[in-house]
Amino acid sequence: MKIGALISGRGSNLPTLFEAMESPDYPAEVVVVISNRPDAPGLDVAAKAGIPTATVDHKAYDSREAFEADVQKVLVEHGVELVITPGFMRILTNTFVEQWPQRIVNIHPSLLPSFPGRHVHEQALAAGVKLSGCTVHFAVPEVDAGPIIGQAVVPVHDDDTPEVLAARVMQAEHKLLPHCLALVAEGRVHIEGNRTIVEAAPGVFEEINPAL
Ligand code: GAR
Repeated sequence: MKIGALISGRGSNLPTLFEAMESPDYPAEVVVVISNRPDAPGLDVAAKAGIPTATVDHKAYDSREAFEADVQKVLVEHGVELVITPGFMRILTNTFVEQWPQRIVNIHPSLLPSFPGRHVHEQALAAGVKLSGCTVHFAVPEVDAGPIIGQAVVPVHDDDTPEVLAARVMQAEHKLLPHCLALVAEGRVHIEGNRTIVEAAPGVFEEINPAL
């Protein structure tokens, strides 16, 4: 399955995804990485891995729709079948989301539906939760919502700062995203309303969540 990745910054989830793609059994490949920021370090990460990159600078457009039309053009040019948004910090319009029904996968650094939006780790620490984690889900027009494919859990320690917690969650993201994308690419994820039924090999999510 050909994946197009939309990013805005470091592209922190890309290296582990590229690593997974090196295995001949991995059922998906990233065919293009698109950034809305020309200076996003993730563009270099992709280029160094030999993955085509493109910049569609949102500041050059008068409207979200015009920006997204050019993003769409790049995705179509590369034959993308599934869009992922690991660290893409632009809200997508309903029109764009509806162009990719059940074909946009987002990763968010909390256990949704807790703590959507920005300043996620600050929200988690302020709420005093003892566990946090990350969620991979299909995107719907509402931000950080949509059928959940998988989640991974990490502990929250009393002396955590948002940065320390973010780094711990990031480790979990690196395991969760490649697993979830493989499940989607293999057709093992079935959407039923706002849920998914996942036909995973036994142990897949237990491996990601040692506490299970
Ligand atoms: C990841 O933690 C991802 O879950 C988060 O941004 C980080 C990746 O960005 N995404 C969101 O918060 C979206 N709501 P980076 O590649 O710039 O580090």
